[in-house]
Amino acid sequence: MIRVNEHYLKLQASWLFSEIAKKVSDFQSTNPDMEIIKLGIGDVTRALPRACIAAFHRAVDEMADDATFRGYGPDQGYEFLRQKIAVNDFQTRGADISADEIFISDGAKCDAGNIQEIFAAGTRVAIPDPVYPVYLDSNVMAGRTGAFKKNRYENLIYLESTRDNGFVPKLPQEGVDLIYLCFPNNPTGATITKAQLKKWVDFAYESKALILYDAAYEAFIRDDTLPKSIYEIEGARQVAIEFRSFSKTAGFTGTRCAFTVIPKSCKAYTGSGDKHRLDALWLRRQTTKFNGVSYPVQRAAEAIYSDDGKKQCRELTDYYLRNAALIREEITALGYDCIGGDNSPYIWVNCNSDPWDFFDLLLKKAGVVCTPGTGFGKCGEGYIRISAFNNFENVQRAMSRISKVLK
Ligand code: MLT
Repeated sequence: MIRVNEHYLKLQASWLFSEIAKKVSDFQSTNPDMEIIKLGIGDVTRALPRACIAAFHRAVDEMADDATFRGYGPDQGYEFLRQKIAVNDFQTRGADISADEIFISDGAKCDAGNIQEIFAAGTRVAIPDPVYPVYLDSNVMAGRTGAFKKNRYENLIYLESTRDNGFVPKLPQEGVDLIYLCFPNNPTGATITKAQLKKWVDFAYESKALILYDAAYEAFIRDDTLPKSIYEIEGARQVAIEFRSFSKTAGFTGTRCAFTVIPKSCKAYTGSGDKHRLDALWLRRQTTKFNGVSYPVQRAAEAIYSDDGKKQCRELTDYYLRNAALIREEITALGYDCIGGDNSPYIWVNCNSDPWDFFDLLLKKAGVVCTPGTGFGKCGEGYIRISAFNNFENVQRAMSRISKVLK
């Protein structure tokens, strides 16, 4: 008799953003004349940088000629891209990362979801609350949690991010093996200082734990004192894996390209205490289950690191940060407390009410989509997330409609 993976039955009914998309589409079908402005899922709206498009075109032309055509690419991604990443994203910031420690992939979501496969079933997992749901759901699917009761899964350690701790969780008191951190944070938009991050790195080292550091939004950091990578922190090479993405940095949500960094010095243990390199395990996993990102997409990603590409990507993130500043300003003027939006494209708003009711209010009265905080966890009670990913004119219109409804 074929049986299901019963851990899937512990999951909430559907993926957060699918649930929101369904609610929006149901509302639109009964209100076809209402124009909806989406500030819910963090999906980019601006075209790819011109430098990326030019490189993309050139690479497609290469694929049209037998002499330059490429089939399967190298296991970890093309060297031309990994070299540029190592130098520009890490070495120039004093982070000791080399090209052979970089694994190109089709998304930070996939990597953050898949990476847990290389750890033992009984791994004690610490997850932020609120959290990007991928970290949580992928561990539920793998059977590392008990049942979902009172908005929490049993057997997980929750790292609470609240107004009281400045949305940077405290170190856990109980034993943990695997720690998920995300800065600039999704969903709160909070950032972490080097001194705060150093405490986590030291904690992981002392407890023989590993940090999974999601830095997908690092390109939005404008405060130069903040770390863009965990490898800017001494000791992190031993205890951290980092996820990066070109989705928000360069508008690649529909193009798909990202990477994961696993330093050679990053190791985990067998039950008998033998150490194993995690880059070797991840390579084994990826070569079995993944066949790489297409050559034209990797060429387009490489162009991000050209002079023009850097300038155009900066303009892109500046554009969304201008939206974020406007959202912050308007929300604050309405008397709501919020965080994020300065070094991040997300604004976490204390809506002082049930977030799904607030979501309904904004959708039905203002025609604006946000994300209810409870979709990210129990600590999202009383909060909504507003995304800055849309055109400036739409954000202006959305905020003026919200002002009218909330005033
Ligand atoms: C979000 O809105 O949280 C992100 O767009 C989701 C994602 O990147 O998968």
